[in-house]
Amino acid sequence: MTKPIKTIGVLTSGGDSPGMNAAIRAVVRAGIFYEKRVFGIYEGYQGLIENNIEEINARSVKNILHRGGTILKSSRSEEFMTSEGRKKAYDNLQKHDIDALVLIGGNGTFTGGHIFWEEFGLPIIGVPGTIDNDLYGTDFTIGFDSATNTVMECVDKIRDTAESHNRLFFVEVMGRDSGHIALRAGVSSGALDVVLPEESTPFEDLLSELKRAEKNRKTNKMVIVSEGNHIGDSMSIAARVKEKFPHIESKVTILGHLQRGGSPSCFDRVMASQLGVASVEALLNGQSDIMVGLENNQVTHTFLQKAINNKSSLDTEMLRLSKILSI
Ligand code: F6P
Repeated sequence: MTKPIKTIGVLTSGGDSPGMNAAIRAVVRAGIFYEKRVFGIYEGYQGLIENNIEEINARSVKNILHRGGTILKSSRSEEFMTSEGRKKAYDNLQKHDIDALVLIGGNGTFTGGHIFWEEFGLPIIGVPGTIDNDLYGTDFTIGFDSATNTVMECVDKIRDTAESHNRLFFVEVMGRDSGHIALRAGVSSGALDVVLPEESTPFEDLLSELKRAEKNRKTNKMVIVSEGNHIGDSMSIAARVKEKFPHIESKVTILGHLQRGGSPSCFDRVMASQLGVASVEALLNGQSDIMVGLENNQVTHTFLQKAINNKSSLDTEMLRLSKILSI
């Protein structure tokens, strides 16, 4: 018979994302609502190994719903990848009588969580928190909407100066090996082209787009370049374009980590609240080794391995739109 859950641990791990705090708040408050004790584990898996663990209450998570980052802090722990590290982590959970874990993070977090579950059988639920939107089993991940809004606002600003100077801009965005951020930001900011990891279109296609833009007398040209694409990073793409079109003045902006910061959008706050509560309810219903997600605004449960191994596919309709609208 499985042990009844009296105490829940919660941690955030991997790259932080806007809305993680809203998810922490929801886990803590739902746990306490259901009369469980809740412990915060600081600095992700590394904090678990180092026993950086503290009980938290409903008031400890006041005034964090709107804040970016994660109050629990995060890390990418090499030590948790070793069986010795995971054993230390398990021993610390035992010290605090923690019966179950909620893990807020992405791919790497769930990979570690699944192995931990296999080794120790401790009930584990994953909450998808990453700006990349690359997990299978949920329409969106927490932080993706805020990050794309940030990118859109940045591209709007860059466009102002691009227009004044008739310049071409390459704006590089995050996403690891998925193009969700680039595509959505591209459509919402009216980009001329998006260079995506999921597409294997040749470099020459980008040149044709630029030729067409010249012919159509486009005075500013915004190209969104996703991390992980097969042509290259924004600097090298800009250099190759310069060789072909020396007369076009181009600039590169790499947005970098600003995409991960800032106050979460309404969408992310609400989704994080829904999924935080859903994670605790899933645990109390005896579920484990799964990720909670939202599909068509309904809570879904997907095995962690399935969520990691099957990439969430790019919205092909969005891709079609972006091509139609960039003429
Ligand atoms: O997974 C989130 C993410 O921001 C990716 O888009 C990016 O490739 C990576 O993390 C950057 O990680 P770090 O902050 O460790 O450099």
